[in-house]
Amino acid sequence: MPAIAVIGAQWGDEGKGKIVDSLATQPNVVACGRFTGGDNAGHTIKPSPNEPSIALNIIPSSIVTGKPSIVGHGVLVNPITLYNEIEKLHGLGISTENLSVSLNSHVIMPYHRLEDYCLEKCKGSESVGTTNRGIGPCAADKANRIGIQMWELLNRELLSERLDFVIGLKQPLLEHVYHWDGIITDEKLRTAIGGYFEGHKIKKDAILDDCVALGNKLKKYLKETRELVNKYIKAGVVILESAQGALLDPDLGTWPYVTSTNPTIGGLLIGSGISHKEIAYVLGVMKAYTTRVGGGPFPTELKDETGDRIRKGGNEYGTTTGRPRRCGWFDAMPVNLAIDENGIDGLALTKVDVLEGIEPIMFCVRYEIDGKPKNSIHSVGQNCLGMVKPVYIEHRRSLQEYKGELEAATAHIDILSFGPGREETRYNLSDELRNLLY
Ligand code: IMP
Repeated sequence: MPAIAVIGAQWGDEGKGKIVDSLATQPNVVACGRFTGGDNAGHTIKPSPNEPSIALNIIPSSIVTGKPSIVGHGVLVNPITLYNEIEKLHGLGISTENLSVSLNSHVIMPYHRLEDYCLEKCKGSESVGTTNRGIGPCAADKANRIGIQMWELLNRELLSERLDFVIGLKQPLLEHVYHWDGIITDEKLRTAIGGYFEGHKIKKDAILDDCVALGNKLKKYLKETRELVNKYIKAGVVILESAQGALLDPDLGTWPYVTSTNPTIGGLLIGSGISHKEIAYVLGVMKAYTTRVGGGPFPTELKDETGDRIRKGGNEYGTTTGRPRRCGWFDAMPVNLAIDENGIDGLALTKVDVLEGIEPIMFCVRYEIDGKPKNSIHSVGQNCLGMVKPVYIEHRRSLQEYKGELEAATAHIDILSFGPGREETRYNLSDELRNLLY
């Protein structure tokens, strides 16, 4: 039995959490996992109309179904967030017995979050608009081979030595390169990490003590997840969830306004450690309109009342940061790029209900630069995306017909979601996907 990959086909926030939750309940699915990103991602699940929504940042949406849920080595893990999420789930009566977290996931440390904050400040008007979760600096330490992995939290002596070395590098970086003045103006960030700094000095002992304590609390969840995923694949279908969206990929997305792990299919394979031969179906997830958070080009952005209406109707505020998301019309160009790069076999279309009552609905099918048609983002060139003029099709009929038009402009739509609840989902599965799930 193989794996189904779930990839965001826009700039993130497409509603992957709900789709994974719906897939996780299907009979052949034996396990689900998250394999890229970190707690910069967020998903909200609503198991039934009468139950409250559950917001998660690291733990896969499948945890609510009780099926094995895996956080693979490709995820950058902030152990504080992870522990708090486990506690929150317990508070809601949801078991985490079936949760596994890779021993080899890289740890997001308080100094990573501070570095993220300082670097964004240094960039000024060129800032990316990160989630301030320390993703970039943690990924950089991984690439520089000075990162700390989850298993290292289990050995105080070793961790102490590693922190001496890393903090020895970070302290002068913060003081003399970023010229950090010892003040964190962002209140949320100050509350989260302020205790790990004294003036502008990193408090190594506070970090060490908390990391060791968290290591002890999380020990039972730490596993060799690559082996685990491969074991589950032999028993049934495994859902592999990627974080963010294809257009935020540092290699394939709208650089430099991207994240620092690869949300595309390659990142999913590396982050889980399975062979590409195991992927039987790639499901792309897209919203009936487009959103993006932070800086970067956004050709179909609506800076008017319609944009505000979509934001309000779709509750387009970050699960992680609470920031209002930039909203705009559906754009087939980024989605088709995502289909192309990820080998997307079929799509899930989410949040169709949000467009109810808006007339006309517009969707972009190609771009123009200086009156010249551009039929793909590739032909535009990454640096020119901010200069394109979107060419729209105007839609005035039913939302069902709108779905058909989007399908014609992109690919087959397997799943249609028109609300946060599990029951607000309609399936029109391709034979291939149906055979995998049932
Ligand atoms: P970072 O991942 O926090 O470094 O942020 C880099 C860029 O990716 C910023 O523009 C963020 O707004 C964006 N980003 C990161 N995670 C998400 C997500 O889950 N949804 C949407 N945008 C995200």
